[in-house]
Amino acid sequence: MKVERLSTGCKALDDMLGGGIEKDTLTNVYGPPGCGKTTLCLQTAVSCIEEDKKVVFIDTEGGFSRERLDQISSDDSEGILDEIILIEPDAFEKQKENVERLDKICEKKDVGLIVLDSLVTLYRLELNDGNTRKINSMLAKQLSKLSNLSRKREIPVLITNQIYSDIENGGVELVSRDIAKYQSKCLIEMKKFEKGKRIMIMRKHRSKPEGKEVQILITENGLEKPDKSFSFL
Ligand SMILES: Nc1ncnc2c1ncn2[C@@H]1O[C@H](COP(=O)(O)OP(=O)(O)OP(=O)(O)O)[C@@H](O)[C@H]1O
Ligand SMILES: [Mg+2]
Repeated sequence: MKVERLSTGCKALDDMLGGGIEKDTLTNVYGPPGCGKTTLCLQTAVSCIEEDKKVVFIDTEGGFSRERLDQISSDDSEGILDEIILIEPDAFEKQKENVERLDKICEKKDVGLIVLDSLVTLYRLELNDGNTRKINSMLAKQLSKLSNLSRKREIPVLITNQIYSDIENGGVELVSRDIAKYQSKCLIEMKKFEKGKRIMIMRKHRSKPEGKEVQILITENGLEKPDKSFSFL
């Protein structure tokens, strides 16, 4: 059976994903600051609007930029902005309420994409030694709601995640660790190199092999396929 997909507006990434992000599940993109997570969210939002659907964009860290949206979209951003329901929670409790309201919004509006950028900024601010269990449980519930909503309504959910160095294993680890990994049926890692060079690596997918990677360039237009492959030396 063919799974419906939404283009990310980035040909190289779409090819790796078999056409785009899957419409009935959660895609989780993680990587260091400035690697291009928000750019990918904006670009996928533009692609969704081109399919004549609305986008719910939950921005927890002031990453949403009209100017960047203008650069990425070929249409005028006024028209594009009309199709984006922008929600800007400033506390983890508010993020929770926003996630709980999503089903109602999707009932009333023709939503074709839900973005949560980032899942963990407010979670991180709230977390302390005394509330780990409670805050982790709140995060797990949000992910479960998002996942169910996506499955039930066939609306793709794109979430971003931050990382920290995992000294023991010599790699990087997601801020929310296994909580988000489990609920995300597609996990993509972004790595950052100089001069706009990036690599995106498939870390988990339901129907694609893990470890596949693709080179990307960040330009004025967003995330693009480089004319020729680059080296990092
Ligand atoms: N017009 C542009 N032309 C080329 N590169 C740009 C342009 N605008 C932004 N960038 C690059 O995009 C990168 C930032 O991308 P983005 O904001 O998507 O990263 P991010 O992963 O969301 O970061 P954070 O973790 O801080 O939210 C920076 O490297 C910046 O130089
Ligand atoms: Mg960002």
